[in-house]
Amino acid sequence: MIDEQARLLSNREVAADFYLARLSAPHIAARIEPGQFVNIQVGAGIAPLLRLPLSASGVEREAGIIEVLFEEVGPKTRALRQLGPGAVLPSLGPLGKGFAPPPAGARVALVGGGIGVPPLLYWGLELRQRAHQTALLVGARTAGKHLPSELLAPAADVVCLATDDGSLGHAGLVTELLRHELAAKGPGAVYCCGPHGMMQAVAAICIEAQVPCQVSLEEYMACGIGTCVGCAVELATGKGDTDYGRYGRICVDGPAFDARQIKWGSAWPT
Ligand SMILES: Cc1cc2nc3c(=O)[nH]c(=O)nc-3n(C[C@H](O)[C@H](O)[C@H](O)COP(=O)(O)OP(=O)(O)OC[C@H]3O[C@@H](n4cnc5c(N)ncnc54)[C@H](O)[C@@H]3O)c2cc1C
Ligand code: FES
Repeated sequence: MIDEQARLLSNREVAADFYLARLSAPHIAARIEPGQFVNIQVGAGIAPLLRLPLSASGVEREAGIIEVLFEEVGPKTRALRQLGPGAVLPSLGPLGKGFAPPPAGARVALVGGGIGVPPLLYWGLELRQRAHQTALLVGARTAGKHLPSELLAPAADVVCLATDDGSLGHAGLVTELLRHELAAKGPGAVYCCGPHGMMQAVAAICIEAQVPCQVSLEEYMACGIGTCVGCAVELATGKGDTDYGRYGRICVDGPAFDARQIKWGSAWPT
């Protein structure tokens, strides 16, 4: 893990309230893997006090550049959105455990929604380089909330979009696209990142279909390095495979977990 003075190269809006920032951070770029994240200090004073965790959505290793995609939802993302080229952002990374690879040769489905899409873009690119057939299924409330195809297309052989209001792609939930993908193509592994309810639904579908599924969890974070225990998640297995028994810290034990490890709700079997 490195605390690097990342330099902002560009920062542009790519969808409604979604921004793509390119950072020169050669030390982090040399090591960051798909599913890992950086914790970025976006203000020079005491506010915002906490750093902003963002997943890498892409890396240009030789150029020493990492890309992050973020939605403006509050003070930290607003502060980052307001910065322009040349800004220096102390950035801690690479943090967390990224995605574990799928079985050799497996067809893969990536299921994303909202701020969960960025890590899947980096992972999809990597999977394609490793010759995995990849489908990217993305859900959003409305057409304007979808990232542009120039960002989605490189991550998959096939991209399928869904919107809640029917303004683009399939009218309905991204889980309906996943059910279709499972029935038609039988992917050998599923990776998911998005709102909690969506991940819970995807986890249930994959467990029922007996398809391995990894989810990338997001939670409010303070330290991002495992010391404050502010990002605990209850585990279904309770096998004590983390330092905190039946709890895991998303920032160090994740953010990528096997979906079967997570206790998704009080009714979830343990
Ligand atoms: C490992 C990790 C990777 C992440 N990667 C990305 C990424 O690539 N792109 C991106 O846009 N965001 C990402 N996030 C989420 C981002 O860090 C948070 O949304 C952050 O809190 C935004 O800070 P803020 O001060 O702008 O908004 P805040 O004031 O923190 O939040 C504003 C609003 O968003 C809601 N909110 C914030 N965080 C969450 C959350 N985790 N779950 C549910 N609701 C939430 C709050 O309820 C509030 O209404 C990631 C988070 C983690 C932990
Ligand atoms: S954010 Fe502090 S332990 Fe995870």
